[in-house]
Amino acid sequence: MKSPLTNDIKYFDYNATHPPFAEILESCLASYLKEFYNPSGITRYSLKNQGKIELTRKYLVTLTNGNEKQFVFSATGTESNYLLVQSLRVLFPQLDSVIVSPFEHSSMYAALESYGFSADLIETDKSGIVHIQNLEQKLKENPRPVICLYAGNETGVIQPAEEISKLTKHYGQLFYSDLMQGFCKVDLSFSLFDGYTFSGHKIGAGMGAAVTYLPNINPNFRVFGGGNQENDHRAGTENTFAIECLNKVSKFQLEHLEEKNKKLLSFQSMIETSLEEMGCIIIAKNSKRLPNTTFLILPIQAVDFFLLGMEEKGILVSTGSSCKSRAREASKSLLHMGYTEEEALRCIRISTGYFTTKEEVEQLLLRAKELIQKFQSIEEI
Ligand SMILES: Cc1ncc(COP(=O)(O)O)c(C=O)c1O
Repeated sequence: MKSPLTNDIKYFDYNATHPPFAEILESCLASYLKEFYNPSGITRYSLKNQGKIELTRKYLVTLTNGNEKQFVFSATGTESNYLLVQSLRVLFPQLDSVIVSPFEHSSMYAALESYGFSADLIETDKSGIVHIQNLEQKLKENPRPVICLYAGNETGVIQPAEEISKLTKHYGQLFYSDLMQGFCKVDLSFSLFDGYTFSGHKIGAGMGAAVTYLPNINPNFRVFGGGNQENDHRAGTENTFAIECLNKVSKFQLEHLEEKNKKLLSFQSMIETSLEEMGCIIIAKNSKRLPNTTFLILPIQAVDFFLLGMEEKGILVSTGSSCKSRAREASKSLLHMGYTEEEALRCIRISTGYFTTKEEVEQLLLRAKELIQKFQSIEEI
């Protein structure tokens, strides 16, 4: 499959968004341009489009062994997380807090706050894995639903979903998970989770379609009213094009998962060995992680200049911090793991994917070495 990236870009930010599989998206676009009809209409043309959406829902059933009526399509990962939390509120109108990992995407904490839940965070350490004993203690003291994402968007650490699932079952509680960074990157046992979310743009299907799996069929769950789309759960004309892209791209990704991960694992080892030699610290190096993600502390202070220097050569990586009012803010995950604010502000994330080549990795490492040496010599003065 051809890369949509031009030669002047070396893209290492797959966890932010995956470059689109252009050929698949073009075939879906051709079908949309020819058959643009509103999927909720009554003509046979509309019904055909509704059929395409239902075929994707059926495909998700085959993939996950879930129940067709519990899948809701929405537009973004953030929205899908909001839907998940709203469904929790509908199930438990009186509940005031849930047990949550300290590694969630900010949209999950924001959704919890919006629906009036306080987040009781599970302890962790530099392994980037939640402490199972601490989780059990929380469940024992006050049994509540648990939310723990599958793989960290920053660290790439894979959480012990099987153990969490066993514990939540033991205490009769629901286990929800944001699968955004795990979907189509590793084999997932969907049956471990009572509810989950994932999104099309994280796998190369373009923006515009995300999925929430609700914990049960609940006729009272309705995020928007005014239409009966999505089994009455989310009114509004569905994005037929984006949903079809999600369907086709995920099939393609899963068919190529094994060979892709073999390649990405070898890149990860190349990247981490070289960067450690340059004095970088790899976060959660010995934990089970996604093969595409490396999160590291640079051995220099001039992180912004480092990033600019990378971009000058068309090399795009990401920081571990977020930008708020121009000042960078340390990643909360890293602070929870026990890193200092100073260390957290020196973090960058390198994430690879289907289109990454060995030549790109070599150029990334060459440029990183040049810049680290340059800033080290300046900072030593
Ligand atoms: C783990 C995780 N959850 C949720 C989101 C939010 O997705 P979106 O930007 O599509 O709203 C992201 C995006 O970075 C993510 O990595």
